[in-house]
This record gives sequence, structure tokens and C-alpha cells, in this order.
Amino acid sequence: MSLYVPPGYTIRAADPRDLDALYTIAADTFFLESITPEMLAEKLFDDRRHDEFRWVVYVAEHKGRVAGFMQGVSRPAQRKAWMGLFGVAAVDRRRGLARALYAHIANCWPLDTAEVEALAIPCNYLLPGLDPRYTEALCLLESLGFQRFTDCVNMGVELNEPFPVEGPIAELAGKGVQIRRATPADRGLLDAFFEKSFGDSWRYEAELTFRNDPPSLHLAFRDERVIAFSAHSTQNREWGFFGPMGTTPECRGLGVGRVLLWLCLNDLRDAGQPTAVIPWVGPISFYHRWANCRVERVFWRYRRTLTQQVS
Ligand SMILES: CC(C)(COP(=O)(O)OP(=O)(O)OC[C@H]1O[C@@H](n2cnc3c(N)ncnc32)[C@H](O)[C@@H]1OP(=O)(O)O)[C@@H](O)C(=O)NCCC(=O)NCCS
Repeated sequence: MSLYVPPGYTIRAADPRDLDALYTIAADTFFLESITPEMLAEKLFDDRRHDEFRWVVYVAEHKGRVAGFMQGVSRPAQRKAWMGLFGVAAVDRRRGLARALYAHIANCWPLDTAEVEALAIPCNYLLPGLDPRYTEALCLLESLGFQRFTDCVNMGVELNEPFPVEGPIAELAGKGVQIRRATPADRGLLDAFFEKSFGDSWRYEAELTFRNDPPSLHLAFRDERVIAFSAHSTQNREWGFFGPMGTTPECRGLGVGRVLLWLCLNDLRDAGQPTAVIPWVGPISFYHRWANCRVERVFWRYRRTLTQQVS
């Protein structure tokens, strides 16, 4: 089936060699973000979990000049898809390019895909939803039939002083809780912990911390079993990205989460980050109370129910 393309333009699959041109468009169009080419490459071409997710990026060209792009991701086992990052150069707007790019990514999704969400791709997202100040993008999503279903926030924190972890770690030791950085030898324990407590998505994110040296994962143990974890720098490292973190329900209230949060923020500070981002929160008052994090961004989450393939 051939899909509509506005006259004078061509649409084709992108590949990593297009990165410079894609970055030029992204740097212009994502005017609220400060992103690097490395971050864009991570978002568009680091197809994490390629056993479960299918990634495509389409690019629109006008006489050999890149005019726009859109990313599409699907997870067939979940019958779900994502419209990832997208942008069209200012001179090429309102000619139907974004609509045509959407038809191309949607055409790659399995026919039984039930729902598509904007932007919030698990384990590899720049933004966990649409910042409504991207007003043209909001208009586009609504014209494509997406509906806003909830919102979420990113918090931010300045990393001026290190958090005082020694005292609380000693106190917890008195209660039989040990805190330490993870090592690759912990993988077996992590499998058991995540299987019981937080599921395979967070298990996968914990695994990504072993790409960093030292691993950007801190653990709490009781009776040699993992009871809590906190991670950072699994993506968007340039922004000082924190998370995920979690404490098993029966161990909440001991003060474990606070220390694990502080250890990650101290790591980021030691690495030279002036600020950290706590994305897609979650327990706002916990982060505000223990690290004075503040709500910095608000995102609207959009999704669209699919009854049949879009064209
Ligand atoms: C959003 C964006 C991709 C739209 O690209 P585009 O090629 O101009 O979009 P299209 O021409 O395909 O528009 C399709 C429909 O979307 C809606 N739309 C798009 N831009 C709009 C605008 N400025 N005002 C009102 N509606 C708009 C319209 O309904 C339009 O259909 P119509 O022209 O028949 O009325 C482009 O404005 C852009 O790059 N914005 C900045 C990037 C961005 O915000 N990305 C998301 C954040 S990561």
C-alpha cells in the first residue's frame, strides 16, 4: 500500500547516518530542551529491549534536505505503540508532513495494536509526556485523535552540598539493614527481587546501571535479601537523570528510601552534575521532603485507542 506524501517531498526510513540532519531539526524544534547529539542518538537509535520493542524513525526530505522526522515504537506482546519524538522544520510546516509521517510509523505497527501513546516510551524517553507549551504538537496530537488522559511531572534539584549519608547508614545497620552499591555479582539477587516486587521493566532499568562504571545502582539488604533499590543515569545522563527507585511495601518507613535517594544524588554531584532531574514522579512529597526537589515541568499524557490501522 502506498501512503500519501505531500507533493515535492519524499519519506523514507532514517538511519544513524542521518543523525546530524536530525539533530539540526531537533535543536530548532525542541525549543524547551537542551539536548546533545548523543542524547538524540540514544532516543532515536538505541533500540533497547529490541527483543520486545520494534523501533522505526521516518524522515521527510525535500530535494535532499531533511524537512522533518518522526519516531514510532511498538511492543507487539502488549498490543501497544508509541509516537516518539517528532519535528518538522519551520519552513515545511502546515503542509501535512507530520500527518504523513504519522501514517508511515503507524503503518509499521501490528494490525492488532490497541493503543498508541505519545512520547513516553518505556526505558528510553526524553519526556514522559507532552509539555503543552509545544502548542503546535498539542494541536497535531488532538487532530490525530489523541486524547489527554492524565498528567505527570519532572522534579529538579540543585546539587550544592553532599547529602549526609554516613549517620543514617550506621543507624540502619543497627536495625539489620545494610546499604551498598550493587556489583554485577548481585544479578541473581536482583532477578529474584524484581520478580517478586517491581516487575521486569524496572529489572531491565536496573540492568542498564551496569553499563556505568561504577554501577549507578544502590541496594538495601536485610537478612541477605534485597529490600530496596535506587538507580540513576540509565538514560539522559547529560541531564543527571535519577530513577527508578523502590522499597518493598513491608520495609517502607524505615528510612531506607531517603538514604538510597541521597546516595544517587551524591553520585551525580560527584560526577560534576550541578542539578538532577527526578522524572515522571511519583511521590512528589517524598522527594520534596528529603531532597528539597521542586516540580519543574508538567507533562500532559496523550493516547489514542486504535480500532484499525491508520492511513
Ligand atoms: C508539531 C509539528 C511536528 C507539526 O508539523 P506539521 O508538518 O506542520 O503538521 P501537519 O501539517 O501534518 O499538520 C497536521 C494537523 O495538525 C494540526 N496542526 C499542526 N500544526 C498546527 C498549528 N500550528 N496550529 C493548529 N493546528 C496545527 C492541524 O490539525 C493539521 O491539519 P490541517 O493543516 O489540515 O489543519 C511541528 O509544528 C513541529 O515540529 N513543532 C515543534 C516540535 C515539537 O513540538 N515536537 C514535539 C515535542 S518533542
